[in-house]
Amino acid sequence: MGVIERYKRYLPVTGKTPIITLEEGDTPLIKADPIAEKIGPGYDVWLKCEGLNPTGSFKDRGMTMAVSKAVEEGANAVVCASTGNTSASAAAYAARSNIKCIVIIPEGAIALGKLAQALIHGAKVIAIRGNFDQALEIVREMSEKYPVTLVNSVNPYRIEGQKTGSFEICDKLGHAPFYHALPVGNAGNITAYWKGYKEYKEKGNICRLPVMLGFQAAGSAPIVEKRVIKDPETIATAIKIGNPASWEQAENARDESGGLIEKVTDEEIIEAYKFLAERVGVFVEPASATSVAGIMKKAQDGYFPDNSRERKRKDIVCILTGHGLKDPDRAIKCLEHPVVVNADIDDVIKEAGL
Ligand code: F0G
Repeated sequence: MGVIERYKRYLPVTGKTPIITLEEGDTPLIKADPIAEKIGPGYDVWLKCEGLNPTGSFKDRGMTMAVSKAVEEGANAVVCASTGNTSASAAAYAARSNIKCIVIIPEGAIALGKLAQALIHGAKVIAIRGNFDQALEIVREMSEKYPVTLVNSVNPYRIEGQKTGSFEICDKLGHAPFYHALPVGNAGNITAYWKGYKEYKEKGNICRLPVMLGFQAAGSAPIVEKRVIKDPETIATAIKIGNPASWEQAENARDESGGLIEKVTDEEIIEAYKFLAERVGVFVEPASATSVAGIMKKAQDGYFPDNSRERKRKDIVCILTGHGLKDPDRAIKCLEHPVVVNADIDDVIKEAGL
């Protein structure tokens, strides 16, 4: 069962909506004690593994909604701009519903796995000599002038689908987490999670809201720096965005929740990326490690007070937005390559250090 079926009473669907699903959602929420140890006493850290969605990222939650509604409204083509994951997801859901998919990407700035996904699902992939922000401007105009439905997160149905992530976290924990940490790129996801938590509270399913902690990459941190970044830079290509579409909504989520949006450097992202893989056993793409890098940095700054004397432990949920296999080049680049020896047991044993 996908997220529409599971949460339809909270979503804008009717009996007539064709449900285009790949059984997305219901992703693992796993405890990560090695990270909690770095935060301080009295905290539990949970990782929402969104890389286990059908196309390997959180985008599938929003895409099942956006494509279902597009098909309901009679569309026969969808379009998106993307740093990679949106295009992979749009291409898959378009394939599933047998409609056309056009994706506009910044040339040379998309992780290999994501490009492979868009291509294999049969999307028309167009790379522009420009960045994500320019690609988004183009697709916005395309969808106004031509009969194609825009499925970036400026499409409100994307936000509706993605808010189901909050519902799953609350259902699993039995309450909202105390802190909710996530990477911020185009800022659709922070908008969606905050909307989801607020709606769950209104319905009486939870009694308080989390503090939202958003993190941007230092070279692509327009919200933190309060200015559009013309040439955003970061190794976390998924969030290499200089002018987020949901800028204001992200600030609202931050301010209404008493949270923050701050930046982490590429070095801090890589450190968290490796820590997650080596100590927690979870391989994510670099952008996803931003949430963990962010809370580890805030812990060092003394943001999380000693909670050991409180009656209740505090939960921190980090959203791990995409799978590590999306961007194998990055893993290979920042690690030692395998040593090559002769096909001889003595040589192998010597090298293995046994
Ligand atoms: N993490 C990953 C892995 C992403 O792909 C994205 C966004 C984000 C975080 C940030 O989420 O944009 O909602 O703030 N990727 C988009 C794309 C831009 O085109 O795939 P956001």
